[in-house]
Formats: sequence, structure tokens, C-alpha cells
Amino acid sequence: MRHLVTLDDLSNFEIEQIFRLAAGMQSQHDTWAGICRSKLLATLFYEPSTRTRLSFESAMERLNGGTLGFSDPSSTSVTKGETLADTARMVTNYADVIAVRHSWAGSARVIASHANIPVINGGDGSHTHPTQALTDLYTIIRRKSQIEGLTVGVCGDLMYGRAAHSFALAVSRFGGNLVHIAPKGLQMPPWILKRLAQVHGQIPVEVENVTEVIETLDVIYVNRLQEERLPPSVDAETVRGSYLLNAAVMKNAKPDAMIMHPLPRVNELAYELDEDPRAAYFEQSANAVPIRMALIASLLGLEQLILTQPPIRNIEESSHQCKNPNCVTNHETYLVSEQETFRGNEDVNACAYCGQLVA
Ligand code: NCD
Repeated sequence: MRHLVTLDDLSNFEIEQIFRLAAGMQSQHDTWAGICRSKLLATLFYEPSTRTRLSFESAMERLNGGTLGFSDPSSTSVTKGETLADTARMVTNYADVIAVRHSWAGSARVIASHANIPVINGGDGSHTHPTQALTDLYTIIRRKSQIEGLTVGVCGDLMYGRAAHSFALAVSRFGGNLVHIAPKGLQMPPWILKRLAQVHGQIPVEVENVTEVIETLDVIYVNRLQEERLPPSVDAETVRGSYLLNAAVMKNAKPDAMIMHPLPRVNELAYELDEDPRAAYFEQSANAVPIRMALIASLLGLEQLILTQPPIRNIEESSHQCKNPNCVTNHETYLVSEQETFRGNEDVNACAYCGQLVA
């Protein structure tokens, strides 16, 4: 059974296969409509969403499949204390593929290990958001043909932004050069930096303000402050409004730079940029549909995915309790801690659910 819990579940070759299929579905929709007839997608959204859930549903329905699910967990048995594992077992009987979003890091992995059908992570806490990263890379490739050699700035709340995490790891897998731009206290977390350095051989440039590097960037990927995830130790007042991409800043950017944002935006990306031909964020949200169409068809086995390299992770049981309070293992008590190491990098030792480094 293939799942997409993190991007580590796909080889680079498979990601490129998904991009080719998405491009075909985008340009020749009638050829593909019907491929998911009689298949059902369950969308289990325990957290707010507009684009991700709607684009998943749109993708499935454009392939003539059906959808069911919830976007308000307060109307489900969660309120009675049902576990993720039991929900997963049950939904297996009602649908053919699951898309899940939840506020606990590692939650999609729990669903995947208890469901007998493919599971797609639509965002798990501040951990990862792999389908957003696929959409982001695809959008870059459609404008710039390739990622390799591009200088890619990831800007904003890099500590708690799951879209930023998946995006940075994905860019580096495809040979982009990362520049991390974040105010103090919101820099990329150690587990991402360690992975970038030891698995992908990349030490990103780190700065606090986008004006320091704007001339060098081919891509500027902005993220909102993840207010709902800030721990009490971070004073929201001091970081709120501490970064902004606007026309004045973009004056010094390359004429063919790309402005990206996973959306929703709050106050970090000025509306005056919407008419700038470098703005690519609405293109990004549009590309979410063909990408999710291609992914659903591939995971359902309706299109062959060719795994060209084995997964790079080794996973084993661990006696360490994960230190991340938001890790699913600290919420669902039946789970056994597991840790992952990377082939050839046995010293990158992380919780297999949420990625947090095991000291
Ligand atoms: C992102 C998310 O939910 O992580 N949104 C999305 O799926 N496009 C980004 C965000 O909420 O900031």
C-alpha cells in the first residue's frame, strides 16, 4: 500500500511522474475524466482548510469519483473520544483513499498505519504538508523549467509553517539553493536544518530580512505567521507584522523572479503585488487541482508509479518518548514510539512521527 505521509514516501522520479501526469490531466482533461469512476475519497479535516480540502474534492470529482468526509470534527465521534486508529479502520470500509488534516504532528502517519487504503497527508500540525510542496514545485517547474540551480528564498514563520518545511526539503532534493529568511524566534527548526545538511548536503544561507537578499532570489516563497501554533513562550505581539513583501521590496528583485505563497495570506504579502506578473500564488492554488488529481490516480494504482529507489529511511521501535508536546505519540496512548534514521546518515535520529530530533 502506498501512502503520501511525507515526501520521503516518493522518489524524485515518482514526483516527476506525478508532474507529467498532472500536466497531461491539465491539458487533456477529457482523456482522464472517468478514471476514478466508482472510487471514493474521504476527506477527514480536523483543522480549518479552504484550498486543500476543496482542491482535493475538486480533483476527485473531476476524475468522476465521489467524495465524503467532514470539515468540522465537532460533529464527529472525536468528541466522544474516538482515536485516530479506530477512525482509520472504519473509514477503510467507506472509501478508497483518504486525505487527512490534523493539528497533531504525525497524525497522518497514524491514519496510514491503521487504514487499508492509501492515505494522503493534507497537513499535520507544524510538521509537514507534502501535497502543498508538490504543488509548489510543479508551479516553479512550469514557469522556470527546473529547480536545479535556482536560488529559492523561504520567508516568514519557518519555525511553525509546515508548508515551509516540506517546501524547503523538496527544493533541496531537486537541487535548488535555499535562503532562509525569518525573524528571530521563527527560524527553521533544527530537525529541518539537520536533514538539509546531512541528507541533502545543503547549508542554507540564513538572514532576518528579505531586503538583505532580494536581488539574488529566483523564487520568494512567503508564509504567514502561524498564530494558532505559537507556544506561550513566543510573544505574538512582537512577531506579528514583523515581515512584509510589498512592491517597494520587489523593486529590487529580479525581473523574472517568482512570488509564491501557499495562502491564506494575512498581512505579510501586499495586495498591490497581485497585478505584478511575478506573482504566482494564484497559479499555485490552481495547480493544486491537477497535482491532486495525478496523486490520487497514482496512489489508487490507476496510473503506475515506478519506485526507482527504495525509501531512504530505516524505522525502528524506540524507548525514547518524543519530546514534542504536539506529537501524536503524546496524545494517542496506544502508539509505540518509533525513530527513523537515514541510510548513510545514522546520526540523524528523529521521531518517525513528527521529525523531532532524538537527542
Ligand atoms: C497552508 C497550511 O494549511 O499549512 N495552507 C494551505 O494548505 N495552502 C499554509 C498556512 O495555513 O499558512
